[in-house]
Amino acid sequence: MTFGKTTCRNFENDLKITKLTEHIGANIEGVDLSDPLDEATVLAIKEALEQNGVVVFRNQALSPVAHRDFSANFGPLVGHVLNRFNMEECPEVTILSNAVNDKGEKIGADRAGMIWHSDMSFVKRPSLGSLLYCVECPPVGADTQFASMFAAYDALSTEGKVRLASLKGVHDYPWHYRTYLSHRTPLTTEEEAKTPPVLHPVIRTHPSTERQALYVGEGLTRTIDGMDEEEGRKLVVELSNFATQPQFVYSHKWQPGDLVFWDNRSTMHRATEFDDKYLRLMRRTTILGDEPFYHPN
Ligand code: OGA
Ligand code: MN
Repeated sequence: MTFGKTTCRNFENDLKITKLTEHIGANIEGVDLSDPLDEATVLAIKEALEQNGVVVFRNQALSPVAHRDFSANFGPLVGHVLNRFNMEECPEVTILSNAVNDKGEKIGADRAGMIWHSDMSFVKRPSLGSLLYCVECPPVGADTQFASMFAAYDALSTEGKVRLASLKGVHDYPWHYRTYLSHRTPLTTEEEAKTPPVLHPVIRTHPSTERQALYVGEGLTRTIDGMDEEEGRKLVVELSNFATQPQFVYSHKWQPGDLVFWDNRSTMHRATEFDDKYLRLMRRTTILGDEPFYHPN
């Protein structure tokens, strides 16, 4: 079916939302994301995202432009901090891939995000959510794992919640890059200067649901502000391990045509390894969020 620019079908009643695990993830059926969506449908998807942390849409045929337009329903889009991986013809879309061009250069970010993190936590206004679309993926490996930081917070002891509420994490992209992305061309001085370390509360209040979430990930949170560097690092790793216990995790096995949308305010994620004899080609958009805050409740 084709739709005029101003008409759009009401999908809200057609949406079928099925939880994927106890704490995190839901599958949404009954919507073609390349169609313009009405407000009620956008709202239903937003609510499903905020309740479940991750929503999965299978069998979508999305051009980069359609991917961008669907994403823009949820807020302003930002390209990758490293312009080199954004699509020339559609700069809001970033390429993640292990493929190389005829000069032997990687066409996108390869092995991005293999350590637990929340996207763009290293800037003052981190991402609200990210949308990752699979064009091609290996038959085995390269799953993306997601952890519920709501569930992790809820599982903390009462004393733990009180202690952590007054702490701030140090989120540091140049450190992350040097530590975990040494296989890549190093950041230029200008790129480093664009992303100095920032502080964010270790417990953040979700602006829509008002639930508390742990906001610390081993990959981007270097240490804890005001603590001895190594002690702080130890606490970060301990919290990150605590938050990513199997009962808090949904592991997504990709198929071409999958669009996965996650809430960076209440989840962390990581990529997993795969064999380079296979091609992995993914496209990503990133929605700008608000500055994280903590409100006791
Ligand atoms: C990301 C990311 C994981 C993956 O796009 O932010 O961490 O599996 N990707 O590619
Ligand atoms: Mn990521």
